[in-house]
Amino acid sequence: MALLRGAFWGTPRAMIAGLLLSPQTIIVLASSSTAFDVLNYINPLIGSTNGGNVFAGSTRPYALAKPVANVDGANTGGFATDGSNITGFSSVHDSGTGGNPSLGNFPLFPQLCPGDDVNSCSFRIGDRATPYVADATIARPGYFAVELVDGIKAEMTSSEHAALYRFQFPSGNATQHPLVLLDLTDLWQSRQNASVSVDPGTGQLKGNGTFLPSFGAGSYVMHFCVDFFGGKPVDNGVWVNNRAGPEPKDLYVTRGFNLFFLEAGGWARFSDLVDNTLTARVGISFISSDQACTRAAEEIPEPASDFDRLVTQVGEEWRAKLSPISINPGGASDDLQTSFWSGIYRSMISPQNYTGENPKWDSGIPYFDSYYCIWDAFRVQHPLLTIVDPVAQAQMVNGLLDIYQHEGWLPDCHMSLCNGWTQGGSNADVVLVDAYVKNLTGIDWNLALDAIVQDAEVEPLEWSYHGRGGLQSWKSLNYIPYLDFDPIGFGTNSRSISRTLEYSYNDYCLATLAEGLGKTEIYNKYVQRSTNWQNLWRDDQKSMIRGNDSGFTGFFQPKYLNGTWGYQDTIACSALADFCSLTTNPSETFEASIWQYQFIVPHQTTSLINLMGGDEAFISRLDYFHSSGLADISNEPVFSTVYLYHYAGRPALSTKRLHTYIPASFNNSNGGLPGNDDSGSMGAFVVFGMLGLFPIAGQNVYLISAPFFEEISIRNGLTGNTAIIKTVGFDSAYENVYIQNVTVNGATWPRNWIGHELFTEGWTMEITLGSQESLWGTRTEDRPPSWTETTTFSF
Ligand SMILES: *[C@@H]1O[C@H](CO)[C@@H](O)[C@H](O)[C@H]1NC(C)=O
Ligand SMILES: *[C@@H]1O[C@H](CO)[C@@H](O)[C@H](O)[C@H]1NC(C)=O
Ligand SMILES: *[C@@H]1O[C@H](CO)[C@@H](O)[C@H](O)[C@H]1NC(C)=O
Ligand SMILES: *[C@@H]1O[C@H](CO)[C@@H](O)[C@H](O)[C@H]1NC(C)=O
Ligand SMILES: *[C@@H]1O[C@H](CO)[C@@H](O)[C@H](O)[C@H]1NC(C)=O
Ligand SMILES: *[C@@H]1O[C@H](CO)[C@@H](O)[C@H](O)[C@H]1NC(C)=O
Ligand SMILES: *[C@@H]1O[C@H](CO)[C@@H](O)[C@H](O)[C@H]1NC(C)=O
Ligand SMILES: *[C@@H]1O[C@H](CO)[C@@H](O)[C@H](O)[C@H]1NC(C)=O
Ligand SMILES: *[C@@H]1O[C@H](CO)[C@@H](O)[C@H](O)[C@H]1NC(C)=O
Ligand SMILES: *[C@@H]1O[C@H](CO)[C@@H](O)[C@H](O)[C@H]1NC(C)=O
Repeated sequence: MALLRGAFWGTPRAMIAGLLLSPQTIIVLASSSTAFDVLNYINPLIGSTNGGNVFAGSTRPYALAKPVANVDGANTGGFATDGSNITGFSSVHDSGTGGNPSLGNFPLFPQLCPGDDVNSCSFRIGDRATPYVADATIARPGYFAVELVDGIKAEMTSSEHAALYRFQFPSGNATQHPLVLLDLTDLWQSRQNASVSVDPGTGQLKGNGTFLPSFGAGSYVMHFCVDFFGGKPVDNGVWVNNRAGPEPKDLYVTRGFNLFFLEAGGWARFSDLVDNTLTARVGISFISSDQACTRAAEEIPEPASDFDRLVTQVGEEWRAKLSPISINPGGASDDLQTSFWSGIYRSMISPQNYTGENPKWDSGIPYFDSYYCIWDAFRVQHPLLTIVDPVAQAQMVNGLLDIYQHEGWLPDCHMSLCNGWTQGGSNADVVLVDAYVKNLTGIDWNLALDAIVQDAEVEPLEWSYHGRGGLQSWKSLNYIPYLDFDPIGFGTNSRSISRTLEYSYNDYCLATLAEGLGKTEIYNKYVQRSTNWQNLWRDDQKSMIRGNDSGFTGFFQPKYLNGTWGYQDTIACSALADFCSLTTNPSETFEASIWQYQFIVPHQTTSLINLMGGDEAFISRLDYFHSSGLADISNEPVFSTVYLYHYAGRPALSTKRLHTYIPASFNNSNGGLPGNDDSGSMGAFVVFGMLGLFPIAGQNVYLISAPFFEEISIRNGLTGNTAIIKTVGFDSAYENVYIQNVTVNGATWPRNWIGHELFTEGWTMEITLGSQESLWGTRTEDRPPSWTETTTFSF
């Protein structure tokens, strides 16, 4: 396996075309200069249009500083390749989120003023928006560049807390003085009060603004510090609306009458540019503008010459982050490899490491923010980090517990130091318990138990942004009622079905932790409560689809407080009907249909199969779901349904289903994600698919499927052991995608699932592939664990 560790297997096809790949040839290649470089397989533009909303600019792993161009079209992640125009370059962003665009504060915008007259420059967003030359866009780890049609080129890179920009102006007119403005706004113009001060001598811009979180409550203050290099200051000042002047040098803007929003900011002009290039260094801080200046100066001490050094450093950081993983693609295409590596890359953009940047408290341990949102990320993004970056995942778990200790609750969503809106259950519970069953170290599990018990027992006044609602009914009726009477706490009184399902699983995770900690009473109480989902199962419910009976009987339905059934169409909130969310068409299921939610009982899938009439009936439901337009591959609840065939003893069908989605819905193109990446969730789904493992978050269970590469190895960051997943009979045309048999460390492995010991112990799993479904993993005893009243397995 030493050969594999060399990580040379991914040499792009073009470079090895025509060579006979005998082992000898490979060794020759390994020592040649065409060595594999993972950076060549990261395409930050995947998901930059078609709703992926990814952040395509420069970032270090989990870093605060994230510079990219902002556009006026689909700008949730700042930039998009949707043909819209560029409005500025800003230094902080979130990635893959839906809804309101997030962050994008304090954009800079470079321009030449006609007639060299400041007042003929364009200040307002609508006036300054400029098309860019599509072909000239370059995005790779640590580097982003665009060219505006007016000839100005912008390049950017970043350190941990600061961004570095190079603006190159068209040559040829020495009498023109390039202007750079700073706009006191963010992407969705949520700015409240803000200040800017200009240093007359240097053009340095410092200040702050109060903004609203893009999917949450409250407000946050962000500070900036912009220094310019490579030019001689000519004049500078502030601008308001579309007027600018050299005096005053300070500006304080508010939102007065009817929250009226006035565009405003600072500007500076320069002469004597070297190579027509002006360099701007932007520090960002949540603490103070002085801290923004200090950190920027520490991290980027020589701005005029640091650019290339920073680009190299960011690349090195990503190489190091990805170094635990190596693959032998076995002929898998460069596109598939690029989807794989880019997926891992995007899962490490957020949460963001705000250590030392939290103005509310400093516990001396790493602080992370931009959990945006845990409802999306608990399923596969955090489980992926647990495998490839367990040290970071343990820090995040401790960071969540730190939020619990200081804010009183675990968040369900958290961004820009504010609480985000809760979408379903208290799913941070699952993140914590997933870390527990996978033995992440350095975590206070009794504290975790307290935090989760509180979610399960105490209803907060505002359950719209943490905890759970309807707990009185949950405890007395054992379901969340349709139109609940709940005078204790406040949230949107909807989603009774999806909340019942998620609360059930949250309670199961609580029971798991309690059992592990030897708290039998707690275990017994919550494992019982985790069966509450059954109370919303309506045996005789049918599903009509456009007037035709789908042929299936028995679905979840809403139930009133008095025990009478309510009604929600089983296809409502699916792609065949209307979208439902918190405020758009709120319904009894969140962002997906009853058809989707019927499959989400991760701890009791076997009981669910029995309710649905057994294996055959369950499989035909899954098939119908995936082939009728009801399955929405663009949203996270769908992920597990691709693999649930494992629980019915047909693991081959999971693999077959997966291949209908990759690459058809996940691929190496700008529109290559089916929906919001959600902090790398879509990316992590692809990565797990290609690894041939799917995590059931909160349980020590990965469902085994056929990998997309001939061989994969992953070194564990906590134990140092290396897991190897290798195949026999691999075929990059994916005809041989059916597992014939599996061995682990040489011994037969009949089960169609495996635990995280694969990684912590560094096992070798060998998978023999063939073109026909086999009997492997089909026996009842070889299916994944599922809790029932008589369960005796230990976790
Ligand atoms: C971009 O700007 C150009 C020139 O101002 C304008 O013609 C075009 O309509 C804009 N594009 C979009 C998508 O707004
Ligand atoms: C250079 O810029 C000045 C000021 O905008 C303008 O008056 C002049 O015509 C420009 N000269 C050329 C050659 O473009
Ligand atoms: C904005 O400033 C006004 C007046 O200066 C003050 O009353 C208000 O509380 C401030 N709002 C925020 C969000 O800081
Ligand atoms: C923002 O900057 C202004 C001007 O420097 C300063 O007076 C104010 O205290 C700052 N606000 C915060 C919240 O730091
Ligand atoms: C987050 O930042 C802190 C402070 O620099 C550092 O100690 C910690 O290791 C970082 N965590 C990760 C996962 O990068
Ligand atoms: C309903 O069923 C009929 C008869 O099988 C079929 O012709 C029709 O296309 C179906 N309608 C829909 C919307 O599927
Ligand atoms: C239960 O409550 C619902 C909603 O208020 C009502 O429509 C239904 O008639 C009630 N059922 C009984 C048996 O009272
Ligand atoms: C790539 O994925 C996108 C998004 O799901 C999809 O629309 C497109 O058809 C896919 N392209 C290919 C070539 O499969
Ligand atoms: C695994 O399956 C292959 C193909 O069916 C077969 O040749 C081989 O003997 C099997 N190995 C074991 C250990 O069962
Ligand atoms: C966690 O630790 C326990 C006790 O040492 C061990 O039995 C178990 O296999 C470990 N689990 C993993 C995933 O490493």
